[in-house]
Amino acid sequence: MSTSTKGAPAHAGAPTKEPFYKPFGREIEIFEAAYRSKMAVLLKGPTGCGKTRFVSHMAWRLGLPVHTVACHDDLTSSDLVGRYLIKGRETVWLDGPLTSAVRSGGICYLDEVVEARKDTTVILHPLSDDRRVLSVEKTGEELKAPDNFMLVISYNPGYQHILKDLKPSTRQRFISLEFDYPSEEMEAEIVASESSLDSATATKLVRAGRRMRKLIDSGLESPPGTRLLVHAATLMKEGLEAQEACEAAIIRPVTDDIELHKAMIDILKASF
Ligand SMILES: Nc1ncnc2c1ncn2[C@@H]1O[C@H](COP(=O)(O)OP(=O)(O)OP(=O)(O)O)[C@@H](O)[C@H]1O
Ligand SMILES: [Mg+2]
Repeated sequence: MSTSTKGAPAHAGAPTKEPFYKPFGREIEIFEAAYRSKMAVLLKGPTGCGKTRFVSHMAWRLGLPVHTVACHDDLTSSDLVGRYLIKGRETVWLDGPLTSAVRSGGICYLDEVVEARKDTTVILHPLSDDRRVLSVEKTGEELKAPDNFMLVISYNPGYQHILKDLKPSTRQRFISLEFDYPSEEMEAEIVASESSLDSATATKLVRAGRRMRKLIDSGLESPPGTRLLVHAATLMKEGLEAQEACEAAIIRPVTDDIELHKAMIDILKASF
């Protein structure tokens, strides 16, 4: 039985239009169950495979706004929680994105969370377990997250250095969903829908893209995700030839290596 909450009354700032998302499994149901149970969720998977799109789609389903924070290696807990700023002769407190999400509710999405400095995990722990509190040390506040607050974090396991992995004590606080490249048929549907390219050409492009991913065995470090196939299809829909579109949208963005570039061109020649 489906317990989908699709069509829930929207809170201010929630997406009003349905973001197109094609599920690969039961991730929608699991996410909804986690939301109802007030649990935090971790999304892992390679770049360009639908994690961010999934979060937008779920925000629309649940009628929640999304507060997104792109984490980077200089990101500190103050960037998330907030800081005092000098304004003229006054000192004013400015909430960071995490604090404003806890105050107002909605999904707080921390993208590429392992990039952030280690001190941020201290902040996330009491918020992601059953306490659901955010300590704003500098103002002396203990904010209890409202029922409609949900913490979602994402990370890309392959690409980060092993030393940058999440600590077990952090990981084990989250319900985890694993994303990967979709099946060939599903990927062709996504590419056709996103680019409006005809489905026969989208299918050819997806086949070629999937063959290119196998070059990982020949030293390709970051295989092209669905995003790059959508980019190439969009350029083709604009009238560019397949090879020109794929060189610009797929090949150059993934490699500088002449041999790999040539191998990808050969795949395209065989596919179109
Ligand atoms: N299941 C899907 N349904 C619909 N569109 C998808 C799906 N998967 C991928 N896409 C398409 O691929 C694009 C890239 O997906 P998205 O931005 O969600 O990737 P990501 O996993 O968040 O990548 P990154 O780790 O780089 O942030 C989307 O804009 C969308 O066009
Ligand atoms: Mg993303």
